[in-house]
Amino acid sequence: MKKLKFGVIGFTGKLGKEVVNLFQEKGYKLVLKVNRKINEQLEKPDVIIECGLSNTVDQSIKLSEKLLVPIVVATTGLSPDQIKGLKHLSNYVPVILSSNYSFGIQVLLKLVEESSKKLKDWDVEISEVHHRFKKDKPSGTAKMIKDLVHRKDVQVNSSRLGNVQGEHTIKYGGLGEVLSISHSATSRKTFAEGILKSVNYILKKKKGLFSFKDVVENKK
Ligand SMILES: NC(=O)c1ccc[n+]([C@@H]2O[C@H](COP(=O)([O-])OP(=O)(O)OC[C@H]3O[C@@H](n4cnc5c(N)ncnc54)[C@H](OP(=O)(O)O)[C@@H]3O)[C@@H](O)[C@H]2O)c1
Repeated sequence: MKKLKFGVIGFTGKLGKEVVNLFQEKGYKLVLKVNRKINEQLEKPDVIIECGLSNTVDQSIKLSEKLLVPIVVATTGLSPDQIKGLKHLSNYVPVILSSNYSFGIQVLLKLVEESSKKLKDWDVEISEVHHRFKKDKPSGTAKMIKDLVHRKDVQVNSSRLGNVQGEHTIKYGGLGEVLSISHSATSRKTFAEGILKSVNYILKKKKGLFSFKDVVENKK
């Protein structure tokens, strides 16, 4: 079987390293790598994984369009123009965009959809905690949770604390009871595993914009 060739933008970052380790464990070949100092392409990759910061996304969009190679975007804190750029790119190649590639968060999002419909007149509060190095605030995942609540008055509290990998909680307060739904990422490998699933999904597509929800639900 043909060995998958992959490229990672931000290959020396916390997430990039997990992706490289997991993909190399599978026997895949790293043929394109980009960080602040290195920009190296040995061969044309079959897929590009964007794990840099929001300032690397424009370059990745151009690269994916030039090489006509599918792209999985894990980077968060994207600008509206970058999201527009990815939508445009998806007319030519398959693109997956998600602020969170963990399976548990997909389950949390389903629960939030359900509980937000049932608890319309309860107070809602979202909180997220991440390591002190995280650049964007609130997290992309907190924004996804907020979008599912469909209310304008929802407060999002963000804390930056030590090396916490990612915690998200949504609380619904009624008169006499509180419902909390929480998720903690305990290893970054979980994101790399979701990215691997996304790569296997995207390689079967010709073009279009997809989410990790589509991957998990194996949307045709
Ligand atoms: N979607 C998800 O499931 C998920 C999960 C975790 C994290 N994330 C997101 O993934 C992104 C990366 O997170 P991280 O924790 O790995 O960050 P990080 O440790 O700071 O790594 C950032 C990477 O990007 C590179 N980089 C930064 N600026 C660059 C530039 N101008 N040109 C080229 N390369 C550049 C860095 O290179 P140097 O090593 O040279 O500095 C490094 O390799 C963040 O947006 C984070 O929110 C998403």
